[in-house]
Amino acid sequence: MTTATELTSGNAAAVVLAAGHSKRLRSEQPKVLHGVGGRPLVSWVVQAAREVGCAPICVVVGSGADQVRSVLDSAGAGDIVWVEQPEQRGTGHALSMARGVLRSEGLALVLSGDAPLVRPGTLSALLEAAAAGWGSLAVADLPEPGSLGRVAREGDRLVRIVEAADADEDTLALRTVNAGHYALPVPEIFEWLEKVDASNARGEFYLTEAVSAAAREHPVAAVRLEDASEALGVNSRADLAAVQRVFYRRAVDGLLAAGVTVLDPETVWIDAGVTVGVDSVLHPNVTLLGASSVGSGCTVHSGAWIRDSVLDDGVEVLPYSVLDGARVASDCTIGPFARLRPEAVLEDGAKVGNFVEVKKATLGPGVKASHLAYLGDASVGAGANIGAGVITCNYDGKKKSRTVIGEGAFVGSDCILVAPVEIGAGAYTGAGSVITKDVPEETLAVGRARQKNIKRRPR
Ligand code: UD1
Ligand code: CA
Repeated sequence: MTTATELTSGNAAAVVLAAGHSKRLRSEQPKVLHGVGGRPLVSWVVQAAREVGCAPICVVVGSGADQVRSVLDSAGAGDIVWVEQPEQRGTGHALSMARGVLRSEGLALVLSGDAPLVRPGTLSALLEAAAAGWGSLAVADLPEPGSLGRVAREGDRLVRIVEAADADEDTLALRTVNAGHYALPVPEIFEWLEKVDASNARGEFYLTEAVSAAAREHPVAAVRLEDASEALGVNSRADLAAVQRVFYRRAVDGLLAAGVTVLDPETVWIDAGVTVGVDSVLHPNVTLLGASSVGSGCTVHSGAWIRDSVLDDGVEVLPYSVLDGARVASDCTIGPFARLRPEAVLEDGAKVGNFVEVKKATLGPGVKASHLAYLGDASVGAGANIGAGVITCNYDGKKKSRTVIGEGAFVGSDCILVAPVEIGAGAYTGAGSVITKDVPEETLAVGRARQKNIKRRPR
């Protein structure tokens, strides 16, 4: 006999049911490609299966199959076996499509591609419970079970699953729901599926019908989820919002446990995988997305929107700043109302103030650009000062050119630097200059019309 430990260490298959569009979502996109926590719904389910060592991982796709494939293949490890379900005729029908690829005997995890909150630990528990009997399913007690299938059980043993659409009032009143994740024996489950018909409210071949029928003859374990949110699936835009909220909440809880102060956990949006160092403080309405990381001792104020950016220790992001693909070294100050675009690099202690935009530009240590500037395709040497209203003219209508500003240079307010151009170290440009020629080191450049004062005619 196979022991549970062996099963959880990697010889179970997984079948993720992920076919089709959802009418209730009213979307052009296949349902499982809708994003939560920064990734498509289905990719979370696939990842959980991967984490418990399932092989093969089969994903059943139908309408929009090409889209689902290309999204998962481009992000994934190339370990997915694709199964086509040409017409979406129900979850039981979807699973039966995988029969040809599940040739060996053993347990298969059968997972709903639209229920992304399931944790790897739950999948291990399902395999363990199934190994001790015939099969298992995850159930949860929800105060508002909505459209989820209702579960009748005796202790830990499943009696039957009834779909909400087919349930009478008493059954609808049950609070225990089917989370849509199972561990089932192959090939036996396929034999039960053959006996299922579509005489139900939705006219579909239900997997739940086959599992219920099997449960009349075999012990099917109902594994109760400690964290009922794992049972949430996405059948509507409202469900999508609810699931998204749980993702953000899980990320915030992770940060709180790791020593980060989050002043208002309900308003902070953080993608899974974002890291924040100890003693950093996140103010309300902060958004941290994608492959972002924030060091320790940082403060991120309200309204900051940060994506795919790396912030070292002691950085302060003042309100309403946008950072996208930026790299910020220790002790920099950004904002309020600053915008760092891709390949903006701020070295130690640089300061970018209000209404300053930085793109593909490196600001050396201690550089200050405090007000109203555009620095694109540029490098600015250590300690240089960029005055208010300075613009690098990096684009001549055909090509982009670079501006190089040397260490300790002082670029006066409202200077226009027409690239390609170089301002030497320690050079100084007079306010309002249009600089079209290189300025040597330690030199004052003035490129503007001299002021004339002309006496007014007598009135
Ligand atoms: C299903 C369960 C319900 C459970 C809920 C958990 C059935 C009949 N009902 O209901 O008991 O509480 O999940 O979330 O199984 N799919 C296909 N092909 C199809 C139909 C569905 O691949 O022909 C996929 C969908 O893409 C989806 C998953 O299977 O990811 C579940 O299907 P869905 O129609 O959303 O089932 P529910 O009504 O939510
Ligand atoms: Ca569903």
